Amino acid sequence: QSVTAFAPATVANVSCGFDILGFAIDRLGDKVSVSFNQEGILRVTGIEGDEGKLPLEPEKNTCSVAIQAMLNKLGSKQGIDIFLEKGLPLGSGMGSSAASAAAALEAANVLLGNPFTKEELVPFAMESERIACGSAHADNVAPSILGGFVLIRDYDPLDMVKLPVPEGIFCTLVHPHIELKTSDSRSVLRKQISLKESVMQSGNIAGFIAALYKSDLALLSRSLKDVIAEPSRALLIPGFYELRDAIKSIGSLGSGISGSGPTIFVLSPNGDIAHEAGEKAKEVFQKIGLGVDVY
Ligand code: HSE
Repeated sequence: QSVTAFAPATVANVSCGFDILGFAIDRLGDKVSVSFNQEGILRVTGIEGDEGKLPLEPEKNTCSVAIQAMLNKLGSKQGIDIFLEKGLPLGSGMGSSAASAAAALEAANVLLGNPFTKEELVPFAMESERIACGSAHADNVAPSILGGFVLIRDYDPLDMVKLPVPEGIFCTLVHPHIELKTSDSRSVLRKQISLKESVMQSGNIAGFIAALYKSDLALLSRSLKDVIAEPSRALLIPGFYELRDAIKSIGSLGSGISGSGPTIFVLSPNGDIAHEAGEKAKEVFQKIGLGVDVY
């Protein structure tokens, strides 16, 4: 018996919610198939779509690390074979490692007879984030597993809140062809912020959450600001401010760095504007001579 599961790409931080907010993307993501083996070992039998870049070693691969955490919790020594089909680019800021872990956990959970709820899978996926980038943040894995917008109110103990998604909201993902490791873009972050910055960030995250509940897209747009991570990280992403300027006139709600970058997300109130944002992005990156993929 083989079980296959899909888990979506995610946008973490969403500008104002550094390490505590993320949302899932429709359609784009990774697929993982799992089946029992008789050898009593956890092994990654193959990976497709990663150009040979991802490790197969069970202690380094995000899928097997996540499933191992799940088996540990069950006290099980069950052997499982894992096959990963990458749909997401690596090191892109689109929650690529999180989607692999989430798909692996969902498939393994079904294979094992659903011993865990979706919420209970999140801590296992966080273990794989620790391996992938040195930090066990949940703002990619939680929305990849639970869908929609998810707030991580606290990490210890983990307290997640699923948030409403305003009708008709679209996201354009702009992926410039540079690779940025999460560990590197975390290392450029300031260790301290001022009281004034803390007040600004709190105002924006509170405004953003209120906007989701009220379906108030004007408030959502005003709240899409980040004074913590963006000022340091934007310097690593060519075209970031040019794209922000270019989409000002087309009626999009705003843009920001997706997770730790280099992908830039643009939120729009409808599909036409989301499409236009993608066209603007292609123009911007053509001008600066950098390849780009738009989703
Ligand atoms: N919140 C994390 C960060 C997401 O910004 O480093 C990483 O994808």
